[in-house]
Amino acid sequence: MSIKPKVFVSRIIPDAGLEPIKARCDAEIWSDPLPPPYALLRQKVASCEGLVALLTDKIDAALMDAAPRLKVVSNYAVGFNNIDVSAATERGICVGNTPRVLTDATADMAFCLLIAAARRVVEGHQYTLAGKWKTWEPLGHLGQDLAGKTLGIVGMGRIGYAMAKRCYAGWDMKILYHDVYRNEKAEKDFGAKQVDFDTLLSNSDFISLHTDLNEKTRHMFGAEQFKKMKRSAVLVNSARGPLVDQKALCEALKSRTIFAAGLDVTDPEPPLMDEPLLQLPNVVIAPHIASATVGTRNAMAEICANNLIAGLTGQKLPAWVNPEVEGKRRMG
Ligand code: DGY
Repeated sequence: MSIKPKVFVSRIIPDAGLEPIKARCDAEIWSDPLPPPYALLRQKVASCEGLVALLTDKIDAALMDAAPRLKVVSNYAVGFNNIDVSAATERGICVGNTPRVLTDATADMAFCLLIAAARRVVEGHQYTLAGKWKTWEPLGHLGQDLAGKTLGIVGMGRIGYAMAKRCYAGWDMKILYHDVYRNEKAEKDFGAKQVDFDTLLSNSDFISLHTDLNEKTRHMFGAEQFKKMKRSAVLVNSARGPLVDQKALCEALKSRTIFAAGLDVTDPEPPLMDEPLLQLPNVVIAPHIASATVGTRNAMAEICANNLIAGLTGQKLPAWVNPEVEGKRRMG
């Protein structure tokens, strides 16, 4: 009888991932709806070879040092800013993520937030519920047109491309993008134009963020950037909350420096209940649900399980964040 590798799964994920993990591993599954506190997670992982982590789990060097047998961290997310990847690589630990399968769901949510914020849908809903709707108002609830406008994409990767596709093909928008890499496919398919950050800020009617969070991108949107945007502009963030300086965003929305914002992510998450942003009419906030469709979350769970099992068995991870670790992987 072979001994199954010990793993910790930091939350209940869909059965599409959980079942293969339970079949192949000696798995402890954290069943609380809230994440395990850091100290407890560290304890739980100490004797494990594998870890399924969520974006709410901080996986740092200290946690890895407390887990000398850890071979793989499989993140149930495409983003992996919760993991110190270079610390993992230094220690021979593989890191996996869940790219591609959530591209459409995330772009759909970005577009949903764009239209909801531009057309003041949630504000209108609240107005209706509050019994304030007395008549059809010629000057009431005026929002922004979408057709033929300019969309600025920050980070023209897979999700940025999918968002641009929706806006170009469905709403005839012109596409600008800011990225360190050129995306020739977006240029060819949508006539997208790569521009510097300031040009994107001042020329876009809508700006949608699809870049990863790192020390260079943290707070890339602050007071100075909001001042450069059009007063009619709408900011959409479905990537990571700390890309935006939330205090500055709140000021920009309050002073109508920009028109509105649609956010699927905040900083921190969840926002504190006394967060002034929550009082503003011109912001729509969703609780980090861009990938939350049945099909997408099942597909993420499958990749996550496959990454975990590949990491445990010395195979190539299907979605491998740090393939450079090959050669010094922890074995045995
Ligand atoms: C991710 O995968 O990084 C999203 O933020 C959650 O699905």
